[in-house]
Amino acid sequence: MTKTDHSLETLLTQAGHFIDPGTGAIVPPIHPATTFARDDRYQLQGFEYSRIANPTGRRVEEVLARLEGAEDALIFASGLAGVSTFFETVRSGQRIVAPRVMYHGAADWLRRLAARRGIDVAFFDATESGALERAVQAGETAVVWIEPSVNPTWDVIDVRAASEAAHAAGAILAVDATVTPPVTLRALNLGADIVFHSGTKYLAGHSDVTAGVLATRAVDARWEEINRARTLMGGVLGPFECWLLLRGMRTLHLRYERQAANALTIARHFEHHQKLEAVLYPGLESHPGHETAARQMQGGFGAMLSLLLAGDADAARRVATRTRLFVPATSLGGVESLIEHRATVEGPNSIVPANLLRVSVGIERVDELIADLEQALA
Ligand SMILES: Cc1ncc(COP(=O)(O)O)c(C=O)c1O
Repeated sequence: MTKTDHSLETLLTQAGHFIDPGTGAIVPPIHPATTFARDDRYQLQGFEYSRIANPTGRRVEEVLARLEGAEDALIFASGLAGVSTFFETVRSGQRIVAPRVMYHGAADWLRRLAARRGIDVAFFDATESGALERAVQAGETAVVWIEPSVNPTWDVIDVRAASEAAHAAGAILAVDATVTPPVTLRALNLGADIVFHSGTKYLAGHSDVTAGVLATRAVDARWEEINRARTLMGGVLGPFECWLLLRGMRTLHLRYERQAANALTIARHFEHHQKLEAVLYPGLESHPGHETAARQMQGGFGAMLSLLLAGDADAARRVATRTRLFVPATSLGGVESLIEHRATVEGPNSIVPANLLRVSVGIERVDELIADLEQALA
């Protein structure tokens, strides 16, 4: 695949500059076909069967690969379909190193399913300096899996330093960049080998499609194995969802810019609020990871922040029922603002503080969002 000469904004807006050769249509078609005819020499004409690949999906994958500066990208039926297909490539006896606080679905996979396959998992504390390096060195580490800003406490992990630690141990670095999309952080440029996104979030951006993405620095044996595993496990994205994902991506840069600006205004407004113990947001200068975040998130600090309520779980849940604009629902990265009591959503094994409310800031008017949170806290 060629790398783009244009900016990411232009690449996204034009969906990779599409003009249909047969009709001149400037919007890519949806190909619902599940199977593809061979030519008169009985040769395939690019596609065979839609569980292997489909033309609408390939279009999205090409744009995603260019967006990440990757050699190739693959899309999946959900974020977790991408995560579990990627972990399929780790062998029994090998180790995966990951942060203790991270997206709970991927952590659940590591806690529940890795052990069954004889995979060793070491969790490190992202707030402790040197903890990642120690975890990597202690076993036969195959994969270091990180989030540049961990969900939902938003502690910052230095991607460049993590890649150096992983490579020194002969491991690869895989980055869940769901909350740090390529308009702000390009993980491959910072030394990552694999980038993952839940496409359900910022990339699609409208809370109406479930999707996952993996992108690779190199089309190597591991990548071929991931591609084969996708075909065998069957977690492919349907053509209509592929099309919706590409359509959503065309405004990613605008949405992200507005969401990040709104979130920073909200974080600053509530930083010293009397009903809150703290506001967790890497864009605040008081945040311990601010300097690293500023270095690696060059397009803004994103829409995600957490409020630590001065109160218990019940008080936090009450706030999440009193908002009128912030919708009390899980997920993130969409155009509408959401609020959730994270420990309730994660369930009884959650290690998230009981007084934490996770907020995903949308593109509404920021003064109205602030007024809404003010009245819910009052
Ligand atoms: C950081 C992160 N990674 C992965 C996922 C999983 O993605 P999906 O819900 O699309 O399977 C999520 C979903 O919330 C997420 O927030």
